[in-house]
Amino acid sequence: MNVERYLRLIAGAIVMATVSLGYWVSPYWLLFTGFVGLNLFQSAFTSWCPMMTFLRKLGVKDYIPKSARTVGGTMSIALLALVFLPALRAQDQTQHRGSAANQSHGMPGGHGPQDMKTIHSLLNAHQQVTRTVTKLSNGIQTLTESDDAQVRAMVRQHVAAMYQRLANKRPIRGWDPLFAELFKQADKIKMVMVDTAKGVSVTETSADPWVAKLLHAHAEAVSEFVKDGNAVMHKEHPLPNRDRTNP
Ligand code: HEM
Repeated sequence: MNVERYLRLIAGAIVMATVSLGYWVSPYWLLFTGFVGLNLFQSAFTSWCPMMTFLRKLGVKDYIPKSARTVGGTMSIALLALVFLPALRAQDQTQHRGSAANQSHGMPGGHGPQDMKTIHSLLNAHQQVTRTVTKLSNGIQTLTESDDAQVRAMVRQHVAAMYQRLANKRPIRGWDPLFAELFKQADKIKMVMVDTAKGVSVTETSADPWVAKLLHAHAEAVSEFVKDGNAVMHKEHPLPNRDRTNP
């Protein structure tokens, strides 16, 4: 195999791996995918990329004659700017629209890094959050509030973003058995959020008794986050007992 073929092989493998990691682990992996794309893109004009240098150092031979590798770098930079600047601006606008919608409980546009930022801020501010959970036979009703306007805005934003994640089956905390199962069963969950003066009231129900149990356990987990904050962030939550009728 020559350098060009190896390059396609390696780039293709990295794209597949990082897109998978971006979907299942963290959207930050998509930056790596973008980096690979950027390199492939500019190498079309310069016939150079760091991986090619590395492969040549390993002794892999070129296929394209060197004389063909002299296309101007300026042109590639101009083209890159043309493609990426509008994309970055569009992304920025989407984020603003997303957070505005989150505040008003419209169609929230939460995305991975923002969701995690809100969660971390909530965990840091856990002492300023109050919460009551009422267990229903088919789910839960919760009231989560704060006297601090910023904290309650974060609670609302978080709930709206998690609602969106459930609706789109975009798991968070996939390593935690309870959260993983909850997202597997997401299409059996009905979630209604209502703003209260100081926060949000959430009713989550399911016709499936197993899912109702998951909702009970999840509400307890959230209450634990509220009570202990970061100290319990990395604690796993086992699945409730499937056999017992009473959770
Ligand atoms: C102080 C910290 C937190 C607060 C105040 C909070 C608040 C809430 C509230 C009010 C809900 C709606 C359901 C309910 O009331 O039980 C909710 C749902 C959810 N939260 Fe949080 N949460 C916190 C931390 C976390 C953390 C650390 C994670 C995961 C990393 C998380 C993930 C979720 C998910 C996945 C849902 C949607 C699933 C469902 O409601 O069935 N939350 N959270």
